Amino acid sequence: MTSFPTGFLWGTSTAAYQIEGAVSEDGRGPSIWDTFAHTPGKTVGGETGDVAADHYHRHAEDVAIMRDLGLGAYRFSMSWSRMQPAGTGPLNPGGVAFYDRLLDELHAAGIRPWVTLYHWDLPQLLEDAGGWPERDTAHRFADYAAAVHARFADRIADWLTLNEPWCSAFLGYFNGVHAPGRTEPAASLRAMHHLLLGHGMATAQMRAARPDLRYGLSLNLYPVDPRSASRQDADAVRRIDGVSNRLFTDPVLASTYPADIASDLGADWPADAIRADDMATIAVPIDMLGINYYTRHVVFGGEAGTSTTAFDNGWIGCAGVGKAMRGYPVTSMGWEVDPAGLYDVLTRLKDRYPGLPPVYITENGASFDDVVTDDGQVHDAARVDYLDAHFRQARRAIDAGVPLRGYFVWSLLDNFEWSFGTTRRFGVVHVDYSTQRRTVKDSGRFLRRVATANAIPDRQ
Ligand code: FCB
Repeated sequence: MTSFPTGFLWGTSTAAYQIEGAVSEDGRGPSIWDTFAHTPGKTVGGETGDVAADHYHRHAEDVAIMRDLGLGAYRFSMSWSRMQPAGTGPLNPGGVAFYDRLLDELHAAGIRPWVTLYHWDLPQLLEDAGGWPERDTAHRFADYAAAVHARFADRIADWLTLNEPWCSAFLGYFNGVHAPGRTEPAASLRAMHHLLLGHGMATAQMRAARPDLRYGLSLNLYPVDPRSASRQDADAVRRIDGVSNRLFTDPVLASTYPADIASDLGADWPADAIRADDMATIAVPIDMLGINYYTRHVVFGGEAGTSTTAFDNGWIGCAGVGKAMRGYPVTSMGWEVDPAGLYDVLTRLKDRYPGLPPVYITENGASFDDVVTDDGQVHDAARVDYLDAHFRQARRAIDAGVPLRGYFVWSLLDNFEWSFGTTRRFGVVHVDYSTQRRTVKDSGRFLRRVATANAIPDRQ
């Protein structure tokens, strides 16, 4: 057995638009993801999150599954446009009632709620007013966060402002593969700044109201390594690490943007949008940093046009830099399985930022083409192996001094995987979308063993 420290938290993560469905019920307004998914050509097969995993109606069953899996915590996001349909004004009673019901179930099951306030579903009316490239959106977010916090602070102790602002800014506004689907480099950098500003303002307001609770955000981070020892590859590492990691960790943890990246981005850099006090606002102290880890980037420079993955399009200002595939096993997302990358991302973070706050893995998991076999089960051995190997690297990181306190697997359920629709399955629980029947996969049972024992069982 490989044990974890007492009190280590085990959970699963989800996001509102990916599981809830019920997009027009009880006063919910449209978000940018409703608009985007309903735009022809934006998602595989034209799928939308209109129904998704129907969690809105099945939350009691889903919480019962989590209780059965022995999980101590559940990270979910609240849908902004369900809570505040127009992006401003009073909270929608129908939305509040839904999350009250969910929280009732979680409390009864003894599962700690961790809430994400923004997992990519901006109310459409705020996008119509310009979206995240507009500074006003940061204010709208802070107001929204304060309103939700005032209503739920007595029921939720752990608050994450943003999920993966890299994705919101660059997939949403730079390469347009996510909502709202804009392809405007300069605007995407303004979006980045206003997302971070919104995080800082929201956190300060919430903490002022309840200093006893915990606040943070979740970032998608990658270890970035060179394909060779060449000078071009070293520079590719600098640039990709800069735009995917340091653009977010430096402002949040060190109150500065990386000067080399600002210089690389030249005229697109949003210098005029960054006001005098903004960096201090963004670097508001946080109680925990959520890290979402999926894979490593091995990169090379100097060979324009030879990029090998779609992710390369998300790397603003990095034309001519490519991502190398190493022949490792890949998930059905095409992402290389690299458990040691989790150790590297955690230890490099600790080395770069002295005084790193407590860290939680807020997402890690894998999509595979699961099938329900004749015995009615899902024998997802590859996902069991994936989780086992990543859990071991998390333990190694703790031994190396990383203040890692918990681990949320992505995801509880198979769900609407953004532009891939339901064609990618990340759940430890299988969903049959024709019946909405849930089947705990072998990986779910594996997670139960780990969570219950707070230890990884020895491999047979
Ligand atoms: C992350 C997202 C999450 C899910 C996983 C696979 O980037 O936060 O919603 O899509 O990837």
